[in-house]
Amino acid sequence: MRTDGDSWDINTSVGSTALFVAAARALGGRAADALVEDPFAELFVRAAGGEWAELLDGRVPAHPLLTPEFGIQFRQHQVARTRYFDDYAHAAAAAGIRQVVILAAGLDARAYRLPWPDGTVVYELDRPQVLEFKRETLEHAGREPIAERHEVPVDLREDWPKALCDSGFDPALPTAWLVEGLLIYLSSAAQDQLFDAIVSLSAPGSRVAIEQMDPLPAEVVAEMAEHDDAGSDWVRLIYNEPRGEVTEWFTDRGWTGERVYLTDYIRGIGRTPAADRSSISLVTAVRP
Ligand SMILES: C[S@@+](CC[C@H](N)C(=O)[O-])C[C@H]1O[C@@H](n2cnc3c(N)ncnc32)[C@H](O)[C@@H]1O
Repeated sequence: MRTDGDSWDINTSVGSTALFVAAARALGGRAADALVEDPFAELFVRAAGGEWAELLDGRVPAHPLLTPEFGIQFRQHQVARTRYFDDYAHAAAAAGIRQVVILAAGLDARAYRLPWPDGTVVYELDRPQVLEFKRETLEHAGREPIAERHEVPVDLREDWPKALCDSGFDPALPTAWLVEGLLIYLSSAAQDQLFDAIVSLSAPGSRVAIEQMDPLPAEVVAEMAEHDDAGSDWVRLIYNEPRGEVTEWFTDRGWTGERVYLTDYIRGIGRTPAADRSSISLVTAVRP
């Protein structure tokens, strides 16, 4: 169960979800017709060692990421959402935005992976120990970011705007915000607080891309929690509570917004979704 001030590193609690999605990206990116390639995902997962590295070498056949009932869909989901956020980042750069903030950056390597125009500054916010693992892994591998990269170690339930501004962020410049794989790990109140902060720090022309998940039916959560497996571990980490719909939240505040369900997005880019309907949707909103 989560508590207000709980903490973690890359191997524990919410921190380990960054490794889980990186492993999904690494495995999902191996398909011949993969939608994106993120070689950094494999780098991070190998650096974590142990069962994570064995998973990449096919030595953990029962791992949830490899099962037909969960793994296939989840890997496709991760790769598709990576593509969505990559395309969003490209579009923001093409529109002239040079300030990017990745909230809950985890093992997102976009600062190293995408062809950012000169002068782009990327701020990565996450818990200190998650950023520490990431930094040590990238330094050890001798990798250099393409954009100017600033780490901002914070708890996103606390006063992160001050830490962001202290790191050099300029609220007078238009910003592209990325919120990928975060909301379900925040309470509804913390989500609203996060969005209030984004709005207050966003100059005209700013934009935000956000992944959201519809709340799971209570009986599904109760059933998942009864088991002793990866699903029950995960369900204890999330805040499965009613919360504001993201597109409406931003359009109510004068932004323009567009929402697409992940399965429709996958169809839209010419692929067949592994599941008929996903509870995940992707939203982009722009401040006029
Ligand atoms: C599922 S991972 C997603 C990471 C990354 N955005 C991606 O898609 O690969 C969730 C991330 O959210 C971060 N996170 C969740 N709640 C947070 C909080 N209150 N403060 C800072 N980071 C948080 C975790 O540390 C973790 O890195």
